[in-house]
Parts: sequence; C-alpha cells; structure tokens
Amino acid sequence: MGIQISPSILSADFAHLARDIEAVSDAADWVHVDVMDNHFVPNLTLGLPIVESLLKHSRIPVDCHLMIADPDRWAPAYAEAGAGSVTIHVEAAKAPIRTLRMIRAAGARASLALSPSTPVEPYEDLLGELDMLLLMTVEPGFGGQKFLDVVLPKIRRAREMIKGRGLDLWLQVDGGVSAETIERCAEAGADVFVAGSAVYGAEDPAEAVRGLKALAEK
Ligand code: DX5
Ligand code: ZN
Repeated sequence: MGIQISPSILSADFAHLARDIEAVSDAADWVHVDVMDNHFVPNLTLGLPIVESLLKHSRIPVDCHLMIADPDRWAPAYAEAGAGSVTIHVEAAKAPIRTLRMIRAAGARASLALSPSTPVEPYEDLLGELDMLLLMTVEPGFGGQKFLDVVLPKIRRAREMIKGRGLDLWLQVDGGVSAETIERCAEAGADVFVAGSAVYGAEDPAEAVRGLKALAEK
C-alpha cells in the first residue's frame, strides 16, 4: 500500500467539517476523525451522528479513532455506518478480540491503538486479528502536542514483529507528526501518518499533506 496520510479534523474548523475534508481530499488517503467522550480522555469532540453525516459528505475513506471508555459498545456501529477503518484503544476495551472481529464483520478495517506507555509485546499474538496497529506518539486527548520520541523504539519493535510474522498490517502513528518528525517515524517503520495541526494549521492543507507524504517516502 505504501505511505498513506490521514489528516485529523481535530484541528479543522468544527463548523465547516465537510469543507475542510474536501480541502484535503485530492491529496490525502484517509480522513481521521477523533471521537472523544471526556471519560477515556479529558476532552469531548463528536460522536456517531456527526460521523454518519461526515460519511455522506466525504469522498475519501473515514478513519475513526475512538478515544472512548466503552469501545466494545460503540465500535461496531461506526463500522456499520460505513467508516473505512475503526480503531479502539486496548486500554479501554474489555473484549478487544470480539470487538475487532465485529468491526471486520461489519466491513471496516479493524485497528487497535496503544497509548504511549502501553507496551506492544503483550499484544503480539493479537496482530493477526488486526488490519492496522496505531501507536500513539502523544498522550491521547488533544491536538498540537509535542511528538514523543520515546515511542520510536516501540515503532521499530512493532515493525519487526509484523515482518517476523509475515503479516500485512498497517502501522499508524498519531500525535505530533509534522515535517520535523515524520521522517523519524517512517524510518522506524510506520506507514500511515495522522497529522492534525501540521495539516490544518498550514496555509494550504492539501499542499501540507503532499509535503508530508514526500518526506515519509524519502
Ligand atoms: C490526539 C488525536 C490526534 C490529534 C493529532 O489524541 O488522536 O489524532 O488530532 O493532532 P496533532 O497532529 O496536532 O498532534
Ligand atoms: Zn487520532
């Protein structure tokens, strides 16, 4: 699949989400939607009704990142609504294997997220259940935070595990990804890059996406 960029609308204008998705749609592979419930993370964004509306207006696939306390309850509904990918946090899920299988059964890519201090090793046997592994490179909850270099060795180890098992799963990074940090992530083995402030904080978001992709492909 190669390098993919998934701009996060957390840094877009919440009163003009359809317009801001359209602005990156010729350049981006996905649009990343951060669902936060003020329980799993100390921030509140949007939920299923808004995602259902965004799905009607987006011509690129929607990548839903659920930062919510009860992903087992909600994740399948995002997949059924038509999200291309649904990510649940392992720290929040009570039955991650069942929930991941339900996401897949509903036709979406099933993805598991690990917060920065969650080790990847305990989940090695689960990798075969996944279409994507998301390694957070900031503490989840807010855009515009500083990239955590401390996660880089985990990205490297995850890539080795994926290779070692001959799996075809994508490795996504999310948080603090910018022109300054994306090459480090790519070099460590990430291939799907979420970027919020680096895209929507730029004068030309589509150009910013193209710039990030070119750096990651170097
Ligand atoms: C943070 C979210 C990210 C956020 C990234 O918890 O999961 O998707 O939008 O924002 P930046 O790219 O600004 O760090
Ligand atoms: Zn996210």
